[in-house]
Amino acid sequence: MFPLLTLFTVLPLMASVDAWLSDNHTCALTKPIYSCENTTAIVDTCCTPTEGLVLVTQYWDTYTGLESEGSVLPKESWTIHGLWPDRCDGSYGQYCDLSRQYDPVPSPNTTTGKPDGTPVPVWEGGDVITPLLEKYGKWDLLAFMQKFWKSQNSPDWTFWQHEFSKHATCFTTYDVGFDGAPDCYGLLYENSTEASIIDFLESVVKADIQYPTYQWLSEQGITPSNQTGYEFQKIQDALTAASGAEPYLGCTGPTRQVLTEVWYYTHSYGRPQDGFLKPLDQTTKSNCNATQPIWYYERTQGSEY
Ligand SMILES: *[C@@H]1O[C@H](CO)[C@@H](O)[C@H](O)[C@H]1NC(C)=O
Ligand SMILES: *[C@@H]1O[C@H](CO)[C@@H](O)[C@H](O)[C@H]1NC(C)=O
Ligand SMILES: *[C@@H]1O[C@H](CO)[C@@H](O)[C@H](O)[C@H]1NC(C)=O
Ligand SMILES: *[C@@H]1O[C@H](CO)[C@@H](O)[C@H](O)[C@H]1NC(C)=O
Ligand SMILES: *[C@@H]1O[C@H](CO)[C@@H](O)[C@H](O)[C@H]1NC(C)=O
Ligand SMILES: *[C@@H]1O[C@H](CO)[C@@H](O)[C@H](O)[C@H]1NC(C)=O
Repeated sequence: MFPLLTLFTVLPLMASVDAWLSDNHTCALTKPIYSCENTTAIVDTCCTPTEGLVLVTQYWDTYTGLESEGSVLPKESWTIHGLWPDRCDGSYGQYCDLSRQYDPVPSPNTTTGKPDGTPVPVWEGGDVITPLLEKYGKWDLLAFMQKFWKSQNSPDWTFWQHEFSKHATCFTTYDVGFDGAPDCYGLLYENSTEASIIDFLESVVKADIQYPTYQWLSEQGITPSNQTGYEFQKIQDALTAASGAEPYLGCTGPTRQVLTEVWYYTHSYGRPQDGFLKPLDQTTKSNCNATQPIWYYERTQGSEY
């Protein structure tokens, strides 16, 4: 009995140690390089993303649609959309690791966005992110996300899980061993998927706070108004000067006059996790109306706090 018991207790331990011995993705030992600037110099895809045109994206919404449930927008701040891994040429992939599919409403519903792509299975397991952050005591991160990473017309966790499954899974630096990819995490956290989720959420926040769009605009006298529209060029110049490169601005409405989005383009020095982002001009021209006033609307009464 005794030797058998010993064997059983020792085996799982040995397996773990083996995994640890062969992992070797200590990016602290790798000299960082800028993503997309010399892809042949990437020695470890856990340490530099191969899809290395990194976009920091934000929304200007005027309501959440769930005010009655207490969901409001943060005063004097744009909200987080996400952190996206475009390929160096500006094209992009999505839902790159279906073993980490937590999006309850996959959009698009195939990996290519076309009928011939692999269908993205609907996640029916509910909120994974909130309990995960609670499990690891990431209360401050959760509180920040609840305030600044807002969904419209659906609970915030659905949007967080959409962003994670659609985009984070295409960044090589959050790989967990799917389909021949390396596992960047070793024994950190209970499992590598959990590690990659938390790591990504922290990266999103770390990038977002470097782009205080509301302040940058207001310093140039551009504040939300339902009375006065602004010249597109004035908005773009303000954000270009403050961020260091020309972002993409997104406008909605039939004549593209309602400002709702900004995408800042960057190259990441090493991992996006580390938050050293070099500003770059957009690869997608803004769609806003360049000849008519742009509306930067005030939030709906009762929609912000
Ligand atoms: C991991 O690093 C150790 C120590 O440098 C080395 O002996 C081992 O061969 C490496 N393993 C792999 C898979 O690169
Ligand atoms: C890119 O990196 C490779 C491998 O490190 C190196 O040999 C090459 O000289 C680099 N190219 C440029 C343009 O820096
Ligand atoms: C994706 O959505 C389209 C449009 O609603 C639908 O026709 C198609 O059957 C869906 N494909 C999958 C794989 O769910
Ligand atoms: C790892 O964690 C994720 C997220 O909590 C969970 O969905 C998955 O089942 C876990 N995997 C294993 C092998 O425990
Ligand atoms: C800009 O607005 C004008 C006048 O409303 C309209 O004719 C034009 O099509 C708009 N341009 C775009 C790109 O929507
Ligand atoms: C400003 O206009 C927008 C767009 O019509 C509207 O949603 C919002 O409620 C308005 N805000 C105020 C304070 O009137």
